Amino acid sequence: MKGGDGPYSYTKNSYYQAVATSAVKKMIDEAIAKNLDIKHSSYTPNTFRIADHGCSVGPNTFIAVHNIITAVELKYQSEGLNSSIPEFQVFFNDHTANDFNTLFTSLPLERRYFATGVPGSFHGRLFPEASLNFVHSSYALQWLSTVPKEVVDKNSPAWNPGKIHYSIATNEVAKAYSAQFAKDMATFLNARSQELVCGGMLALMMPGLPNGSPHSQSSVAKLFDLLGSSLMDMAKMGLFTEAKVDSFNLPLYTASPQEMVGLVERNGCFCIEKIELVDISVKQANAPNAQSCIMHLRAGMGGIIGEHFGNEIIDELFDRYSKKLEESSFLLDSYQKGKQLFVFLKRK
Ligand SMILES: C[S@@+](CC[C@H](N)C(=O)[O-])C[C@H]1O[C@@H](n2cnc3c(N)ncnc32)[C@H](O)[C@@H]1O
Repeated sequence: MKGGDGPYSYTKNSYYQAVATSAVKKMIDEAIAKNLDIKHSSYTPNTFRIADHGCSVGPNTFIAVHNIITAVELKYQSEGLNSSIPEFQVFFNDHTANDFNTLFTSLPLERRYFATGVPGSFHGRLFPEASLNFVHSSYALQWLSTVPKEVVDKNSPAWNPGKIHYSIATNEVAKAYSAQFAKDMATFLNARSQELVCGGMLALMMPGLPNGSPHSQSSVAKLFDLLGSSLMDMAKMGLFTEAKVDSFNLPLYTASPQEMVGLVERNGCFCIEKIELVDISVKQANAPNAQSCIMHLRAGMGGIIGEHFGNEIIDELFDRYSKKLEESSFLLDSYQKGKQLFVFLKRK
């Protein structure tokens, strides 16, 4: 299942990432200052290796990597070890279909690292054992490796007809999604636990839901509901069958801090340094309008919707969606009040 970018670049239009950047930078700086154990680190040869999972095409990945490197250098400087600052190697990872050419042609000229591309899903091993010092992933782990099969099975209590997401569906549907997220996190953490050195660090950012909040309160629930109802309208007009909508679900999940703590503990290989929700609401003046919200959704979802329904329906779908969104502009409020889950772990 390939999530993410299309011709409408998710990365360049990503509102949440831009808003969250300064808060996340501060948390990563603090976490590196606290957790990077220089005295007991041995880099072989003197190289600090960073992987960014779900890097897309930039520029957010370049900003993240720059922040990590600067924080590591600062830590060395603060301990009077300027002359021991390691060299840096950065592995940019995304699906094989990612536009790595665009990524590499826009690498910052002034970068202080050697750049390498690593194609493939992060739901499996990508690196040799104990070869990485820092793993980063921003706004990628919410993409499930697959839609849970029960939600498209007519004979299952978790069948989800007429809807395209779990957030406004039955408990059974939500449970199937949550179980899939748990499986995906298990494979992700298992692979990373083998690839990171002891004391290696893992920083993950993704959309988050407060503990105990119903899934219907997630910032995207109503927007996905509207997308589903736009698809149903088109089915009713005969542009495709309703069964086509019944067999389509978005492979996206929003986890709570509590859920994430449980999954990290179940894996058992990491110490939890921080798992918390960051409020990324912004002042109304800076908030995204309907058009930027649509661009963002189209960039993120257009690819998989096109794969299922055919690319020829995309313009009409988002025209309809746009009208619905303008009619119910209050829906944008929930989008503007997003929360980000920040996870910082250290390999035992
Ligand atoms: C929303 S973009 C985030 C890009 C960037 N990290 C940022 O913060 O702006 C999500 C990216 O994750 C990638 N992705 C999703 N699932 C993945 C997987 N299983 N393996 C590798 N990359 C994945 C998508 O292809 C997409 O490029």
